[in-house]
Amino acid sequence: MSSSTNPSPRTLRTQGPLSGVARVPGDKSISHRSVMLGALAVGRTKISGLLEGEDVLATAEAFRQLGANVTREDSGLWIVDGVGLGGLESPAEVLDMGNSGTAARLLLGVLAGHPIRTFMTGDASLRSRPMKRVTDPLTAMGARIETRPGGRLPLMIDGAESVLPITYELPVASAQVKSAVLLAGLMSRGETSVIEGVATRDHTERMLTHFGGEVMSEALPEGGTRISVKGEPELTAADIRVPSDPSSAAFPMVAALIVPGSEVTLPAIGMNPTRTGLIATLQDMGGDIELSDERIEGGEPVADVTVRHSALKGIEVPPERAASMIDEYPVLCAAAACAEGTTKMVGVHELRVKESDRIAAMVAGLRANGVDCADGEDWMSVEGRSGDINGGATVETFLDHRIAMSFLVLSLAAKNPVTVDDDAPIRTSFPNFFDLMRGIGCEA
Ligand code: S3P
Repeated sequence: MSSSTNPSPRTLRTQGPLSGVARVPGDKSISHRSVMLGALAVGRTKISGLLEGEDVLATAEAFRQLGANVTREDSGLWIVDGVGLGGLESPAEVLDMGNSGTAARLLLGVLAGHPIRTFMTGDASLRSRPMKRVTDPLTAMGARIETRPGGRLPLMIDGAESVLPITYELPVASAQVKSAVLLAGLMSRGETSVIEGVATRDHTERMLTHFGGEVMSEALPEGGTRISVKGEPELTAADIRVPSDPSSAAFPMVAALIVPGSEVTLPAIGMNPTRTGLIATLQDMGGDIELSDERIEGGEPVADVTVRHSALKGIEVPPERAASMIDEYPVLCAAAACAEGTTKMVGVHELRVKESDRIAAMVAGLRANGVDCADGEDWMSVEGRSGDINGGATVETFLDHRIAMSFLVLSLAAKNPVTVDDDAPIRTSFPNFFDLMRGIGCEA
């Protein structure tokens, strides 16, 4: 996995404008779910465009160890032969979820509904991340879970013999927690509900429907939404076409905005409204981002995105937008550093418990490269330098792919190269990042 013992420092530069068409790899969230639901369905699921990053490969390997047949054809098509709901077997080995919080937390939901014992671990980053947010509701549903102190991995889970359907109000805006509870609810006899105050990504709900599950969504009079699943559905294998990941597209998108003279087109990017907060924010900052050929592919909205270099202005990002761009704040910092004026990001406490403490990592790296910033527990601000960025420093990436890619994008607009201490984490979500960036004119 990505916890390399020999870190490989890296930079990214360009001599001129970025241009061309770049095909961004498959959506990470949708890729994980397609393997998981494919494994729980009856029959053969064929997945095209699956993200072949380390995070998704960890999910595929875990499901193999749990008894599903998950293979890749030479054409790049992935095949999952499902075992049916409740059909997973106790794995002989400890499951290693690598760097992936999504893999670990969603899988815990699945395992909570299978009466088998499983041991789970991950890399140093994942072992430091909070699991109590999923182990609390899954314990209430009947699973028995023993974690390391502080609710951390490694852990052991004994799934419930009989899952109790619950109604769970999310204490944090988290699609991973919502999904874990809904997935466990599939194995119950009744109806399981999650109440969310703000909308988080709804790929689990969409894909469950695609596989024949019953998902109900109801707006509540007091605000928020109740999402419910009927237990013991007949999940039937269904083919999936994974759209390009908007969270990965964010890197070439910001690169094109901040390198003078650039124009880049990114085809078939996922436009699920729970994921498009960054585009709205960059447009509010004055970014020239044009969507064309908006369409539905495999149950998810997609569009071609064309981005042109723009003079950006700092703004205050509305906190209610946080869930729809939670993974994009690091690369927004790169755009903010190049803008004129201050960009303030509020209501972003969750950034402290991602693959790294992303507020701390961004603030340290920006300051080292000559960009002023400030932060508090749940906010940060960046003083834009209208493109006058000194650069020249090496930043620590803390096993965090998005920190690494964000500083490499910033390097494109800096006077001196910005270097990241290790490029290995990028393989978790964007294995062809350097090839793609070279394809639009970068030197890597
Ligand atoms: C994800 C949900 C988000 C996001 C992560 C992927 C998912 O995490 O940051 O990269 O696929 O459900 P949280 O649920 O912790 O917000």
